[in-house]
Amino acid sequence: MTATGSRLALLECRACGTTLSSDAVQTVCPTCSGPLFATYDLAHWEAHAWREALAHRAATLWRYRELLPVKDDRSIVTLGEGFTPVIELGTVPRADGLEVWLKDDGLLPTGSFKIRGMSVAVSRAGELGVRQFFVPSAGNAGVALAACAARAGATARIYLPTGTPAVMESACRLYSAEVVREGATIREAGIAARTAEAATGALDMSTLREPFRAEGKKTMGLEIWEEMAPDRMPDAILYPTGGGTGVIGMFRAFLQLIELGLLDRMPRLYAVQPDGCAPIVRALNEGDARARPWNDAQTVAPGLLVPAPFGSERVLEALRESRGGGITVSDASILDAVRDLGQRHGVSASPEGAAPFAALAPLLARGALRPGERVLLYNTGSGIPFLAAGNPGTGPESR
Ligand SMILES: Cc1ncc(COP(=O)(O)O)c(C=O)c1O
Ligand SMILES: [Zn+2]
Repeated sequence: MTATGSRLALLECRACGTTLSSDAVQTVCPTCSGPLFATYDLAHWEAHAWREALAHRAATLWRYRELLPVKDDRSIVTLGEGFTPVIELGTVPRADGLEVWLKDDGLLPTGSFKIRGMSVAVSRAGELGVRQFFVPSAGNAGVALAACAARAGATARIYLPTGTPAVMESACRLYSAEVVREGATIREAGIAARTAEAATGALDMSTLREPFRAEGKKTMGLEIWEEMAPDRMPDAILYPTGGGTGVIGMFRAFLQLIELGLLDRMPRLYAVQPDGCAPIVRALNEGDARARPWNDAQTVAPGLLVPAPFGSERVLEALRESRGGGITVSDASILDAVRDLGQRHGVSASPEGAAPFAALAPLLARGALRPGERVLLYNTGSGIPFLAAGNPGTGPESR
């Protein structure tokens, strides 16, 4: 074995405090059914030497292997994902006075940030002997799992809501995954998937129903830190939130970096949701500890069509503890943002990935963002599947 040097310790449930071994396949908390999270042994570790060593490592997310769960190098299933560019956008009309940056995960293998979680979770599950996977998905997570499973020599079954664009199904099939069409949203697709898969022995890769996709998402925060700290660390990060794993992942990364003495301050994290499906933002506004299911959810951004996010308590905790918040944007402003990012900034963004751009002006107007602040928009996905589904990429520019 070639050890990765992973500092992985136990799994813990933040809701009830149950701890479990991380060396066996685990799903959710056996006591309260909440999500399980990895803990790491960070004491007595030369973190500053590690920081120096990073500079000499390959530009993939596996450069952070000590803070990831895989223990043997040979278990790593990778397409070279990670270390996507952070670019300054320049002047953004209606967001005058803000210094706006964008991290572009549309450039990752399979076209979205979902590969981060899937490569790490498939690698660790494979290390523990898993060879069969399934996931309900709005598209991107399914494509990412399909690619990782193909590379791992494992099988994947992807449950897509019936309205998912055909291009997503074709992309899953390209990697020889099986595709099942079920339900109006990922919520119904997930219920159908868990029923159908109950006896198959396949591992459920749904958001937060296994502990290691969130670890892969953590690399979003680790990269932002390595690319921007110490002098250019953003004051605020705007993130398109569906299930919210990205928010949890970045929050966990920043907490670990603070614990290691490598970061002095947590950026404020803001969830951006479409106004037709905003359970997290509603819970924030109403002071609730967890989100209630959103009825009649609809939006142009399929990845944000998550009416009942599992693990909403942890998402809300991250938003509140980072002193950030949440905001809703209309579908029309999301489509304007797709167009403006392309036409003005040369960035290809999916509707989900463009939503943070649409949130700039309203957050500034409400005083949540202040002139002079540095803001990072997280583009989670490429615009190409959206265009391939027949949506126009052009149109009159907005002011
Ligand atoms: C492109 C894109 N952005 C954002 C999201 C939402 O992700 P999260 O679960 O991290 O909130 C999704 C989920 O499908 C997605 O495909
Ligand atoms: Zn629990």
